[in-house]
Formats: sequence, C-alpha cells, structure tokens
Amino acid sequence: MTEQFSSSPDGLDSAAEHLRNGHLIAFPTETVYGLGADARSDSAVARIYEAKQRPSFNPLIVHVADVAAAKALVMWSDEAEALAEAFWPGPLTLVLPLREGAGISKLVTAGLDTLAVRVPAAPLARDLLARAAVPVAAPSANRSGQISPTRAAHVLEGLSGRIDGVVMGGPCTVGLESTILGLAGRPTLLRPGGVTREALAQVLGRSVAERHATDGITAPGQTRSHYAPKAQVRLNAVEFAAGEARLGFGPVDCDLNLSDAEDLTEAASNLFEYLHRLDATGAAHIAVSPIPHLGLGVAINDRLSRAAADR
Ligand code: TXA
Ligand code: MG
Repeated sequence: MTEQFSSSPDGLDSAAEHLRNGHLIAFPTETVYGLGADARSDSAVARIYEAKQRPSFNPLIVHVADVAAAKALVMWSDEAEALAEAFWPGPLTLVLPLREGAGISKLVTAGLDTLAVRVPAAPLARDLLARAAVPVAAPSANRSGQISPTRAAHVLEGLSGRIDGVVMGGPCTVGLESTILGLAGRPTLLRPGGVTREALAQVLGRSVAERHATDGITAPGQTRSHYAPKAQVRLNAVEFAAGEARLGFGPVDCDLNLSDAEDLTEAASNLFEYLHRLDATGAAHIAVSPIPHLGLGVAINDRLSRAAADR
C-alpha cells in the first residue's frame, strides 16, 4: 500500500519516521519528486532499485538538510564551499570524494569512491530531511527510463503499490533535475540542470569542463534513452505533420506551449508535465519546437534528446 502524507507537520513527521525505519517515501523537491530511502541502509536502498527497476550500476544522489550534514559525508573543499554558499539550498549536486566512515551504503555509490550530495531548496524537502535526520538517497521517483515526475500524481501513476508513501506537495518549481558537478578532480559538468554551467564558472572563477560520452565510470550512468514517453519524439520541428502531438516553444500554433514568451525557466518547469500530458493522449508521435541552446536550454535539450533517442 502506498500511503499519502499531507504536508502538515504531522504528515511530515510520519513520513520522516518511515524513512528512519527503512521505508521508501517519495517527496517533492524544487527539481523533481525524489524517491527517498535511508542512505545508510543496504536493504532500504536496494528497495529503491527494485521499485524503480533501475540498473544497479547507476549511483544515487544523497539529500541532506544543510551544509553541515553534507560535510559529514564528503571531503569538503574551498570550491565546494563557494558553490554551496552560492547555490545551496538549490538545484545543484556536488560529486566529492566520499569521507571514510561516512556510513553510506555501497549501493548508493555503486562502488565509486565519490558521493553525490545536494541540499534541496523546496521547503517541504528541507523540513522532511530535518525531521528524518538521516542522509536520504533519492533518485527521481519514476520507473527507470520513464518521464521524470514533477507532480505527486506522476509519482502515483508510476509507483503506486511499489513504495510505502508519497508526501503530497505541489508541482516542482524548477521542473528539471539538478545540475551535477564533479569536484573530485577538475570541475566537470556531469549533467546539465537547474544551475547553468556559466553560473558555476562564474563562482569558481575558472571554466567548467564538459563530460564526454567516452569518460566511462566517472560520468553519471545516464543511459542514452531516458525520460522516454511512450510516443516517438521528434526534435527541432519547425513544421508539424498531421497526427503529431505538437509541443511548441514561442509564437507557434501547437497543442501545448512550453513558453509562449520564449522564457526558458518557464519551459523547464513545464517540460515533463507537458510530455506526460501529450503522452497520455495516446499520440504515436510528439514533435517539439527548437529550443535555444543557451542557459537552461542546454538542460532542456539534454532531456529532450534522451526522450527522442532510439530505444
Ligand atoms: O534533481 C535531482 O537531482 C533529482 C532530485 C530527486 O534530487 N534526483 C535525480 O536523481 O535526478 P537520479 O538518480 O535520477 O540521477 C542521479 C544522477 C545519475 O545520473 C547518477 O549516475 C549520478 O547522478 N551520480 C550519482 N552519484 C554519482 C557519482 N558518485 N559520480 C558521478 N555521478 C553520480
Ligand atoms: Mg531520473
């Protein structure tokens, strides 16, 4: 049975207690809904992989309530400090050397000697993490390979009956997963997301390397086909064909418009919800307008190209 927890203090207390008892609880962050489990418990973390049917080589992000809790898990650095000050709480995940004795399950790191950590900004997430007072491993709360959830209803659609509970918060404000920055060596963008590469470089005072598909184990284990709707997805559509569900951007005639005003922040927050909605119509094809490849557009195009990849 999947219990629905309200966002009241009592609801959050029960959800936090479930987390401490090794149960799986989905909760809203500002990026997407996460599927949380106590990151120190092998059995709890194993259940995440089982519920999501996720390939076990893919490591997980650990969520904590504040910087102090993060420092207890990883080897901190001046660059981590500067970035945390600028972007935490918020949609940035830092990958740092795992601290010895941190007590994190090896299923979280998939055997790597680094750990991905983040302090989410959504007040509900922070409140829940503070009440749980354990590090919480949380991938996006969807079945592996499917569209990421930005509404509690999306979580229930994909995972109802497979997880212990969901905190019923509102829609996610950012709507795209966090930016993942590798800081174990030279700063490297492992996944574009809610914080742009330019913004990171500005705080660091040096450039941020791009990861290359050939980089292997240090790169996030993102499969090329990911975030996939059931429909086939066609990108950079300047004209739409008959029978295609039309996902527009800017002043175009379409079924759903990511942003009439060509606002990339608005487009990011609508992206997964609109893919869900167009997919739910049963359309065989979804065509998407071109999205400018700058700022948040880089992360939007990353998710769209995965949605369109061969599977
Ligand atoms: O916004 C987000 O980051 C959401 C919310 C719930 O916080 N979480 C999320 O988790 O997107 P997930 O599991 O869907 O994606 C985690 C990514 C994966 O691509 C994984 O390979 C990468 O993080 N990752 C985790 N630990 C890593 C590590 N030690 N080194 C490199 N990549 C890592
Ligand atoms: Mg995911």
